[in-house]
Amino acid sequence: MTKLCVANWKMQGNLTQIVAAFNYYQNHVEINKTNIVIAPPNIYLSTIKLLTTDKNNPIKFKIGAQDLSRFANNGAYTGEISGAMLQELGIDYVIIGHSERRELLLETDTILLAKIKNCRHNNMIPIFCIGENLLVRENKQYLTFLQIQLDLLTQVNDLNQIIVAYEPIWAIGSGVTPTLGEIDQVTDFILEYMQKILPCVKITILYGGSVNSKNAQSILTIKNLGGVLIGSAALNNQEFLTICSYA
Ligand code: PGA
Repeated sequence: MTKLCVANWKMQGNLTQIVAAFNYYQNHVEINKTNIVIAPPNIYLSTIKLLTTDKNNPIKFKIGAQDLSRFANNGAYTGEISGAMLQELGIDYVIIGHSERRELLLETDTILLAKIKNCRHNNMIPIFCIGENLLVRENKQYLTFLQIQLDLLTQVNDLNQIIVAYEPIWAIGSGVTPTLGEIDQVTDFILEYMQKILPCVKITILYGGSVNSKNAQSILTIKNLGGVLIGSAALNNQEFLTICSYA
């Protein structure tokens, strides 16, 4: 099974670096394929779109946005970027519910729900991030915690497809990853639970948190796992290429 590799650049890089990286992606077959998704900071999306229209060397990888507005229609919402604007640019995926936005931008379930709906109404695929903190993990309450986060999805009426990224907060940017057995357990749990609450929705499950070129190959062997979400390791082109070569 081909697996997804999603690169989340977060608020990093600058125009020169990002254009250079996209040229690199376009020119390397390990990355320039349809199961690779790159999410640069939103401000660079239109530049990237304009620079990657070479008919002789078309891009095959997909482009994701790191966020979209909670407001459904264009209007007087200073600083916001609507789902329609992203869709017009040909964006395929939107990351929603990342723990950094939940914690630092105070995004609540109500906000996340509105964002998922906007994403769907504009025919983009949500990459919905869930994951427990260390305390919840150590108290062995993580499955219940994840279940509650997943329950939000039952409120999206027309959901037909979703990517759920399991990103334990304690693994993000820490260099620590769960064991393969632990990722496997959560992957199967999410799959079974989603089949129970939303049996008609096509679901893909990703793992994210300190994925790098050394651990990606074994993580990607996990049977029901559909791919990985990569943060810091994706900022190094060679490192990212190695990860993508396993997918
Ligand atoms: P990391 O970030 O790979 O740097 O741990 C992953 C993420 O936050 O998506």
